[in-house]
Amino acid sequence: MVPSNQWIKIKAPATVANMVCGFDILGFAVNDPYDEMEMRIVKRAVGQAAITIINIDDYNLPTDPELNVAGAALLAMIEEYTANSTIEKTVVDFSTIGFEVKINKLIKPGSGVGSSAASSAGAVVGANYLLGNIFSKDDLVRFAMNGEKVASGVKHADNIAPCIFGGVTLVRSIFPLEIVTLPSPELFVTIVHPQIEVRTADARSILRQKVLLKDAIKQWGNIAGLVAGLMKSDYDLIGRSLEDVIIEPVRSILIPGFDALKLSCKQAGALGGGISGSGPSIFMLSKTEEIAKAVEKEMHELYAGMNLPHNTYVTTINQKGVEIVDLF
Ligand code: HSE
Repeated sequence: MVPSNQWIKIKAPATVANMVCGFDILGFAVNDPYDEMEMRIVKRAVGQAAITIINIDDYNLPTDPELNVAGAALLAMIEEYTANSTIEKTVVDFSTIGFEVKINKLIKPGSGVGSSAASSAGAVVGANYLLGNIFSKDDLVRFAMNGEKVASGVKHADNIAPCIFGGVTLVRSIFPLEIVTLPSPELFVTIVHPQIEVRTADARSILRQKVLLKDAIKQWGNIAGLVAGLMKSDYDLIGRSLEDVIIEPVRSILIPGFDALKLSCKQAGALGGGISGSGPSIFMLSKTEEIAKAVEKEMHELYAGMNLPHNTYVTTINQKGVEIVDLF
């Protein structure tokens, strides 16, 4: 166990969930943007909360651990730590110690690039490090999903898994949890975040609960094609498979200029892309940085023309996931 009062600094990457056709099962981490967090173990008086959240950004997110995504993830971890007699414990009694967590959100909440996942995943990876890395990455995903439940009402892992594992991940099953890490060829990612807010819970509530068999056939062809394309480094197959006939037609109405933006990005050379997670951000994948920047220009031009404030990122796939970057 890292000694009490030793601070660690954590970097937690943004993530793009769904990868267009893989609703709730596919996702990847990106190098920019990312959240910064600091954590330490502190001794606490009996009766004092096990988790103290300190926000050092201006988003005014809840600091009550049960209402905060990082807090909810940590509570799940402490509960299992306390209940599981097979774990070799370095902390005997969680009633006398706790976690202090400082969160600096550089990923805007509600932007659709895994802001809540970054906080939940960052917190559990940090806590695990402080406790001597006793839990597996799969365990950490399970704990962090409790943060997603607080954020969106549903335990989904398609942001959490790539945030913790890095790279591209497939959630083959959620109960029981099975995460498959996927290789990918070099890909450049362009993300545009129009400054409107789409709550994940709202973007989920408008989805139809039943799909037509003909749509399901198209969708699983695309998912299989995308996974095969990633594994074979087949850029054209990746591009053709970035098609969603189930979720995007419903959700895209929430995002101004979506169809026009997608078309102009593809004309600029993007392989393809779509809504990042539940939106409003949109992502595009490109083969080269030059194309990714041309795609960014298209995004700027379209949203500037609509007088819609927005910000963009040109980045690459983050292969490391959450990292402990400093001890101080
Ligand atoms: N798969 C989730 C959704 C991701 O699309 O609702 C939310 O970020």
